[in-house]
Amino acid sequence: MTVAICPGSYDPITMGHIDIIERASNLYDRIIVAVATQPRKETLFSIEDRVKFILNYFKKNDCIIVESFDTLLVKFAKKYKAKIIIKGLRAVTDFETEFQMAQLNHELDPSLETIFMMASPKYAYLSSSAIKEIAQYGGNVKDLVPQEIEKELMAKFV
Ligand code: PNS
Repeated sequence: MTVAICPGSYDPITMGHIDIIERASNLYDRIIVAVATQPRKETLFSIEDRVKFILNYFKKNDCIIVESFDTLLVKFAKKYKAKIIIKGLRAVTDFETEFQMAQLNHELDPSLETIFMMASPKYAYLSSSAIKEIAQYGGNVKDLVPQEIEKELMAKFV
């Protein structure tokens, strides 16, 4: 069984993330969506909410597991016997940080490979930060996040 990890802050998950996770689930037997607790980063949604949104979205998909983690990613990967980290790449601006993280993770555990998937063009501009900013100023985020999150965002910024 090939297990792959899709790690992120998911604050909140966007249709861009979902696109990558679904495409990855067509390639590997099991996908672990690893939600980083991020204790040093201020997040809009609590770790419980970030996990809940993803669980609710993928509840009908048995091969997608959702878990929070507050350790090194390589440690979390070992726990699940995962050998692959999946990351989405939107533009060259993502490359530098992603390249650094892939190198560090490989240094920490050489048995782990990071595989990059290109964002689908319609989501190439999408990020959780942009979603939060649009919602904050009353813009429309329908079709950019699951419906449940759209409602929660509206409630946060009334
Ligand atoms: O969605 P993000 O914020 O780009 O995700 C970044 C994340 C959570 C994947 C990354 O910060 C991470 O792996 N954190 C866990 C701690 C860790 O392993 N750090 C060393 C590798 S850079």
